Amino acid sequence: MHKLAGKKILLGITGGIAAYKSALLCRELKRLGADVRVIMTVAATHFITPLTLQALSGHTVHCDLFEAESDHGMGHIELARWADLVIIAPASANTIAKLAHGQADDLLTTTVLACDKPLSLAPAMNSLMWQHLATQANIQLLISRGVTVLGPAEGEQACGEQGPGRMLEAEQIAEHLQQQLNQELLAGKKVVVTAGPTWEAIDPVRGLTNHSSGKMGYELASALRDAGASITLISGPTALSPPAGVDYINITSAKEMTDAVMANVPSCDIFIGVAAVADYRPVSPAQQKIKKDADSLSIELVRNPDILAMVAALDDAPFTVGFAAETEKVVENAQKKLTAKGIHMIAANPVSGKNSAFNADSNELTLIDRDGISHLSRCSKPLLAQKLTKEIAQRYYETYPAKDS
Ligand SMILES: Cc1cc2nc3c(=O)[nH]c(=O)nc-3n(C[C@H](O)[C@H](O)[C@H](O)COP(=O)(O)O)c2cc1C
Repeated sequence: MHKLAGKKILLGITGGIAAYKSALLCRELKRLGADVRVIMTVAATHFITPLTLQALSGHTVHCDLFEAESDHGMGHIELARWADLVIIAPASANTIAKLAHGQADDLLTTTVLACDKPLSLAPAMNSLMWQHLATQANIQLLISRGVTVLGPAEGEQACGEQGPGRMLEAEQIAEHLQQQLNQELLAGKKVVVTAGPTWEAIDPVRGLTNHSSGKMGYELASALRDAGASITLISGPTALSPPAGVDYINITSAKEMTDAVMANVPSCDIFIGVAAVADYRPVSPAQQKIKKDADSLSIELVRNPDILAMVAALDDAPFTVGFAAETEKVVENAQKKLTAKGIHMIAANPVSGKNSAFNADSNELTLIDRDGISHLSRCSKPLLAQKLTKEIAQRYYETYPAKDS
């Protein structure tokens, strides 16, 4: 069965004895239907020839940063864009150290740095190299950034040592990659997501709004869809095209968003409020454009409905996730919001200064639930959305174990 059909896998090979196993891995990934492109470090070419990998992958093997850029083939940016997933097997202690510290001095490390797709490493090295505090610190750093580390296994090593350091077998690595790429974590679940800003009319041509671009909510809707959920995306005015395969409801004001949410949540499993909903709206918007006759103008505002609190208060409330956009005391304010609204989880992001989430292509999130706080470090919004999807799914199934399918 072609479990990896259509998947684009970038296989990085570094300089270690286990490089011979990468040939088997390449063949196994091909057998499962994946399109495989290979990057080898110079050290790797001492252990296995690029010709072997070229024959197995069916594509030119890339080894040199500058050659790849100049030969009109795939340079590091094209390779980074092309891949659905990057696996480095074997991952040497040296390359692990370089990745941990953001070094980019060869084609493989430069490509990885330019790539926001999931990265997996299958380390292979002498057991003392593996256990060295430097290697362990590098590995922990990479794990904290969302890198998946496969193995290493324990056993007898090529160098005669006994202990951890053997690369996993090709079939085991392929199995992990299949799980990673085909995660249908939320198969059969219905999720309602709100995104973007709202627009509260002052008169027919002016309104109150905010800087939300909708990118995070749209990326999250895509990631949830990829995890198998059916999605209703309720969006305020944005410049974005709705993701394919989601039910899309376009609204303008907070009131319209409230009505659309309340009509759609009763049958949903998870509700995620990413939209930056206006807290207040003008009491009575002018019917005609307001003229600048007076020196000053007061607009009376009234509170909008609190959508998250309304959803959380429903009798059969879905697992409810809020977003907190804060300009100060991000965690403290988000914690208060979690309790005040009675929701299950909150994702807090800063929206002031150079790290503002608004309109940016990258973001970071602090996740707060009733059990504590964790952090998803800064990365592109698509990757962050994938990570957040996993976090939400995990907490959803913990909260409603009976719904685990
Ligand atoms: C015979 C031999 C075997 C090696 N095996 C490994 C290994 O299994 N794992 C490892 O991390 N380094 C191993 N090394 C060291 C790496 O090849 C070396 O650190 C190199 O700089 C790695 O470069 P790369 O990370 O760019 O591929 C070995 C070196 C030699 C000479």
